[in-house]
Amino acid sequence: MPRPQNDTFLRALLRQPTDYTPIWIMRQAGRYLPEYNATRSHAGSFLALCKNPNLATEVTMQPLARFPLDAAILFSDILTVPDAMGLGLYFAEGEGPKFARPVRDEAAIKALHVPDIASELKYVTDAVEQIRKTLNNSVPLIGFSGSPFTLACYMIEGGGSDDFRLIKSMLYKRPDLLHRLLETTAQAVAAYLNAQIEAGVQAVMLFDTWGGALSHRAYREFSLRYMEQVVSNLKREHDGEKVPVIAFTKGGGLWLESIADIGVDAIGLDWTIDINAARSRVGNRVALQGNMDPMTLFGSKEAIRAEAKAILNAFGSGSGHVFNLGHGVSQHTPPESVAELVAAVHELSRKNSR
Ligand code: CP3
Repeated sequence: MPRPQNDTFLRALLRQPTDYTPIWIMRQAGRYLPEYNATRSHAGSFLALCKNPNLATEVTMQPLARFPLDAAILFSDILTVPDAMGLGLYFAEGEGPKFARPVRDEAAIKALHVPDIASELKYVTDAVEQIRKTLNNSVPLIGFSGSPFTLACYMIEGGGSDDFRLIKSMLYKRPDLLHRLLETTAQAVAAYLNAQIEAGVQAVMLFDTWGGALSHRAYREFSLRYMEQVVSNLKREHDGEKVPVIAFTKGGGLWLESIADIGVDAIGLDWTIDINAARSRVGNRVALQGNMDPMTLFGSKEAIRAEAKAILNAFGSGSGHVFNLGHGVSQHTPPESVAELVAAVHELSRKNSR
């Protein structure tokens, strides 16, 4: 497989020179696009959409048809892994994800097993293959997984949580049990990402959405350590090309040096940190991805442009920046704002000719 015609995103992750700063957007295929909502209602539900490779391909391509983005991201969800482990994922209308069989006691944790990816998650690798064909080497395809800790939050809480009371109770009462769950989940995540790489994704991202809810010590012991285990078990090359790895801990700005130490190529930044400060802390070791506040997209075109410029200038010249939001795009975002952002990042960064 040749490299994609536009390999700017891959080059930036590997800190190689690029003509401009590449951009993609977390949750770029989603409810802010009317065409996504149409395909989703045709599919019947969000999960049906994820499990149908034709429709997953269709929605993956939708944002690329509208905006000149520099990467595609597989349309799926992080919770497909615990679903394949038998927890019974469902989405209650307006309530977000839920598990029918959360894992809360010793017996349930001991019964957990690494799923057979080739059968239980075949719909994901089928989608990857189909998306690669449809992309036809235009831009790279990103694969992803939740971090072991973030998956564990949903597996134990049984859905979203404000205070993580159940998982933190286990962490402080029975750390041995939580470690056992994380160990099994880390093996599942590594096998899942390797299957995506075999199927054709050209970079992978670990979403540690809830690692930032942990204390300084607990973050290292219960989140970072298992991300490191996953990263060390990944296939880092496929078809003769490097497969860069991005780690994103939301709220992880205090721990960037430690994240850079786990062997990733790039760190995803949320919007709370100055990208210039982040770069001076870790910039000669990893690339940086981010980090505009998603809510900026509710501002005027001028405000969006000014903020994009401020972030590009804060990063400064030289390679190693992938522009993104600091978290997923809101479902209420006007698509025109995304168009403005993509155009602004491309134009303004070309002027800096990095
Ligand atoms: O970025 C992309 O375009 C790829 C697709 C993607 C989705 N979810 C689609 C999705 C990715 C990378 C994810 C990751 C994901 N899923 C995370 C980690 C990233 C993050 O946002 O922090 C998490 C925590 C989840 C779990 C999850 N899935 C939640 C909490 C929800 C509900 C969100 C909400 O706002 O209601 C989902 C559903 C989901 N995943 C949607 C999409 C487009 C919306 C579902 C719908 O169409 O109704």
